[in-house]
Amino acid sequence: MKLDITHANVTPDNAAAERANQLLHTGKGAGNDFLGWVGLPSSITDDELDAITREAERLCGLGTVVSVGIGGSYLGAKAVIEALGNPFAPAKVLFAGQNLSEDYTRELLDALADRDFSVVVISKSGTTTEPAVAFRLLRAELEKRCGAGVNERIVAVTDRARGALKTMADREGWPTFVIPDDVGGRYSVFTPAGLLTIACAGIDIRELVGGARDMELMCRVDGGLAATYAAVRNALYNEGKKIEILAAYEPKLQYIAEWWKQLFGESEGKQGRGIFPASVNYTADLHSMGQYIQDGERTLFETVLSVASPAAHVVVERDPEDLDGLNFVAGRRLSEINGKAEEGVRMAHVDGGVPNIRIELPRIDAYNIGALLYFFEKACGISGYMLGVNPFDQPGVEEYKRNMFKLLGKQGY
Ligand code: PA5
Repeated sequence: MKLDITHANVTPDNAAAERANQLLHTGKGAGNDFLGWVGLPSSITDDELDAITREAERLCGLGTVVSVGIGGSYLGAKAVIEALGNPFAPAKVLFAGQNLSEDYTRELLDALADRDFSVVVISKSGTTTEPAVAFRLLRAELEKRCGAGVNERIVAVTDRARGALKTMADREGWPTFVIPDDVGGRYSVFTPAGLLTIACAGIDIRELVGGARDMELMCRVDGGLAATYAAVRNALYNEGKKIEILAAYEPKLQYIAEWWKQLFGESEGKQGRGIFPASVNYTADLHSMGQYIQDGERTLFETVLSVASPAAHVVVERDPEDLDGLNFVAGRRLSEINGKAEEGVRMAHVDGGVPNIRIELPRIDAYNIGALLYFFEKACGISGYMLGVNPFDQPGVEEYKRNMFKLLGKQGY
């Protein structure tokens, strides 16, 4: 992976980033009871990875897997599966519990009507409304179909000791995987919260974790590339660039951006501070958001996720008539055209006052996606400390819940 900051046009405080990195390793910063993710990739054992893979294979043998979760219990798996899957192939994994939509839920239940399925229910707290509602419905459907056989079709991923889901799993005897106490939801993709669903989609979780492990080592001592990225974005923030747009030129990376938005938004957006994380999918969004980014309020900077080598090889053909005027690109690969689009956009946006950070992945595969996710996690921890906030809590998330529960008449609200 490469990081190019030459077009960010800012002087980063690398020493502050290094100090913030040290806080993550010494445990002397805020939220230090949630630092389990820092050494997680290298501490997962082969036995743990084997157990997750075996369980995934067993579940896949029972039909479609429905993964139930929201936030950190959803986005990591969704991001990896979208990045590494073929969007035109039938899905092995479907997702539920990431919204409260009646239509989505009905359509999902209808889609499952003529399929065998099992459920992986993921909730660290065990009390989150969206997954709890979806799980209740899916469990009832399974009970209707399988009677006592339901228990072989439910796997819980939850807290070691506490919570409603843990209580249910113990009582019913569902196989259970643990989300460690010291790993918060948005940093949990390398725990069973992410890995079990990812393995159910047929993805090699050893490769994924391998990439994260190597990135962990590279970013350990001085924060490496993660510290550089954190320092640059903080310098930009201090110069009034309050919005970071993560831009990708590969549609497969769309949910990596969604995961990234939760990671940075929930970690940094507090006490009236924090960069607002946004995302665009290029080149599609050049035709919708391009105008604003080029010419709107100058509070933006762009971080581009670029992929050096695509897996496929598609060439634009020559047309003897050339009525569409495209023969000037005949014989060239789409990746070359996409690459020139990226270069042209960067030049235009930088000229227009939008600083640019560029992250280059060699290719989209499990190893490199694992490395990228860990890179962002490390950068987020460092960046949060540089900003002076606790990057591991999310007090603001509770506010809407109080109102919602009160409006729904829940006791005690
Ligand atoms: O980052 C977080 O902690 C949150 O986004 C949670 O992941 C999300 O609210 C889901 O929580 P839980 O896994 O407890 O159901």
